[in-house]
Amino acid sequence: MEVKLMFLAVFLVVASFLLVVTSEPSGDKKALLDFARNMSHSHRLNWDVKYSACRNWTGVTCNGDKSRIIALRLPGIGFSGQIRFNTLSRLSALQLLNLRSNSIMGPFPSDLAKLGNLTALYLRSNKFHGFLPLDFSVWKNLSILDLSNNAFNGSIPSSLSNLTHLTSLYLANNSLSGELPDINISGLRVLDLSNNNLTGVIPQSFHRFPSSSFIGNHFSPENLPIPLPPAPPPKAPPSKKSSKLGEPAILGIAIGSCVLAFVIIAVLLIVCYSTKGENGVLAKSKKKETTLKKTVSGRQDRNTSLVFFENCSLAFDLEDLLRASAEVLGKGTYGTTYKAALEDSTTVVVKRLKEGSVARREFEQQMEVVGSIKHDNVAALRAYYYSKDEKLVVYDYYNQGSVWAMLHVNRGQGRTSLDWEARLGIAVGAARGIAHIHTQSSGKLVHGNIKASNIFLNSKQHGCVGDLGLATIMSPSAPPMQGGYRAPEVTDSRKVSQASDVYSFGVLLFELLTGKSPIHTAGGDEVIHLVRWVHSVVREEWTAEVFDLELLKFPNIEEEMVEMLQIGMACASRVPEQRPQMLEVVKMVEDIRRINTGTQPASATISEGSTPTFIS
Ligand SMILES: *[C@@H]1O[C@H](CO)[C@@H](O)[C@H](O)[C@H]1NC(C)=O
Ligand SMILES: *[C@@H]1O[C@H](CO)[C@@H](O)[C@H](O)[C@H]1NC(C)=O
Ligand SMILES: *[C@@H]1O[C@H](CO)[C@@H](O)[C@H](O)[C@H]1NC(C)=O
Ligand SMILES: *[C@@H]1O[C@H](CO)[C@@H](O)[C@H](O)[C@H]1NC(C)=O
Ligand SMILES: *[C@@H]1O[C@H](CO)[C@@H](O)[C@H](O)[C@H]1NC(C)=O
Ligand SMILES: *[C@@H]1O[C@H](CO)[C@@H](O)[C@H](O)[C@H]1NC(C)=O
Ligand SMILES: *[C@@H]1O[C@H](CO)[C@@H](O)[C@H](O)[C@H]1NC(C)=O
Ligand SMILES: *[C@@H]1O[C@H](CO)[C@@H](O)[C@H](O)[C@H]1NC(C)=O
Ligand SMILES: *[C@@H]1O[C@H](CO)[C@@H](O)[C@H](O)[C@H]1NC(C)=O
Repeated sequence: MEVKLMFLAVFLVVASFLLVVTSEPSGDKKALLDFARNMSHSHRLNWDVKYSACRNWTGVTCNGDKSRIIALRLPGIGFSGQIRFNTLSRLSALQLLNLRSNSIMGPFPSDLAKLGNLTALYLRSNKFHGFLPLDFSVWKNLSILDLSNNAFNGSIPSSLSNLTHLTSLYLANNSLSGELPDINISGLRVLDLSNNNLTGVIPQSFHRFPSSSFIGNHFSPENLPIPLPPAPPPKAPPSKKSSKLGEPAILGIAIGSCVLAFVIIAVLLIVCYSTKGENGVLAKSKKKETTLKKTVSGRQDRNTSLVFFENCSLAFDLEDLLRASAEVLGKGTYGTTYKAALEDSTTVVVKRLKEGSVARREFEQQMEVVGSIKHDNVAALRAYYYSKDEKLVVYDYYNQGSVWAMLHVNRGQGRTSLDWEARLGIAVGAARGIAHIHTQSSGKLVHGNIKASNIFLNSKQHGCVGDLGLATIMSPSAPPMQGGYRAPEVTDSRKVSQASDVYSFGVLLFELLTGKSPIHTAGGDEVIHLVRWVHSVVREEWTAEVFDLELLKFPNIEEEMVEMLQIGMACASRVPEQRPQMLEVVKMVEDIRRINTGTQPASATISEGSTPTFIS
């Protein structure tokens, strides 16, 4: 009896503990499982009932207290079959539903009418057929509706005009017929009704849209809007969140051509090239607009897609990348890097590798190694894409930008200078990240491209190493990593080693100390190599001369700076064998603060709160 009671008590404690710890949208979770049970899907869907839907399930986003699921992004998962009634519609808090680019069949899922909080609905590129729902006014908050590339027929319901928040309406490539209702929504910015079977006149309220919104229909010819001359697109700074570009917009821009920032064209290129890879047969084309069309029409045979790593809850596909607003972050040794802002929340870094002849197997193996690394000081690799012509890698995005930008952008223009605390945190974090990388693959993994533009700040404001694992898969003919960071023995990109990573890290330390780029010009045309310059200055015992002027305003840090300088000198030794191992370097960098806080009482610049605890 007592034993039983005790057992019960223990059970209750454990049960209540579990309840507290695993706060989960259990009803929504069940609804999703019911949905998935009736859908076959060709890609792995890690929806295991044992794990947290909010944290571990692909494509799922929860609200703040994890009581409800508010967004579901499942593009290109390979779903086929019909959406079972009363499954998704139970996710009543859902604000975003993206099922784009699957092969879902059947009529429009009428029970989605229960999702009154929806702001974005993407069902594009599936096999839905039949009539559109008659009453759209149930989705009062809907701002994006994308039903393109399906087989919807019948007429366009006039209830659409009740969607006062609607900004984008895509109904292209269906079999919609009849006359166009007068939908006068002032906020509507993007409209695509192309390639349907619409007839009659185009209502006055639509005359502000370009003719490309209407082509491929049977409208009265005299009524068609005059094709717009190629004009600069509306000012859309690509970095602004609101400048999310719909495909028609992109198409329009491409046709209007030339003008828009290089950025968007670059993104078009990414996608065009990728699709070429997907289709395998498309000839190389310099014409962006045709390639873009091919991109979209290639949607059906999507055999290759982005490969995501386990536990990654992101879900998007190449088409999403096309629609994302993108910004070139930099052009590096191994390719161009973009910041891509997807739909409403996710921002990722996409790196498009330069033409390389790496074999698929080798590429995938390397990506698996890199993708399995989980460390506070290593930027996570989220996904990759491989095709014959195109290789993309997707990393986490760090919104504070790179250490390079922090050190060198807007110098002398009243910028917030990077203080010593921050630089120490960057050094210690980067050191730990590199050291961790060096323990992978039985202690053989090499980063190969350590430089300030590949170091970011994690949530603790410590350095975090990005752009990992590309050096060794680039073809030997690729130019070795750029100038100043390259160890003298590295003559081609495959000669990088852990010792050359240590060298590059040493250069990074010099950069943090001096605020100068590894290769820069001083005054005239004279090119200065940071490593040589530091060595010569130190040799001539002018040590104080090397430090960044921005640091000199902080008192009592000279000891620490000198110590970091010595570590940098050891790392940047000419002879690889004389360089310390990265694990030793970590210890040395950590000791800068440990030793000095012991011998040197509270320096005025370091507030209690901001003293970094270097024990993670
Ligand atoms: C679930 O996510 C947590 C935290 O993101 C992670 O620690 C755990 O390993 C994941 N579990 C599985 C089975 O994916
Ligand atoms: C869904 O699956 C159940 C069995 O798992 C089956 O009885 C039902 O007919 C399926 N419904 C649809 C719409 O496929
Ligand atoms: C919409 O969300 C709010 C909370 O944000 C919730 O109270 C409401 O019930 C939701 N509406 C529907 C139709 O589920
Ligand atoms: C619509 O969105 C607003 C916030 O944007 C929210 O307060 C409101 O509850 C939403 N309405 C419905 C019906 O979900
Ligand atoms: C719409 O398509 C369905 C088959 O999917 C067909 O039965 C119906 O007649 C069509 N309606 C119109 C108006 O074309
Ligand atoms: C708009 O919604 C109201 C009620 O929500 C409805 O009475 C009206 O018919 C709708 N308008 C259209 C054009 O469907
Ligand atoms: C378009 O509508 C006409 C009749 O209005 C019909 O003859 C034709 O088959 C339709 N075409 C498509 C592609 O639905
Ligand atoms: C559209 O509605 C606005 C008011 O919301 C009105 O001022 C405008 O004249 C309407 N335009 C057309 C073409 O009906
Ligand atoms: C519609 O289909 C055509 C041909 O397949 C394609 O070129 C076009 O981009 C598609 N439109 C949209 C909006 O997807």
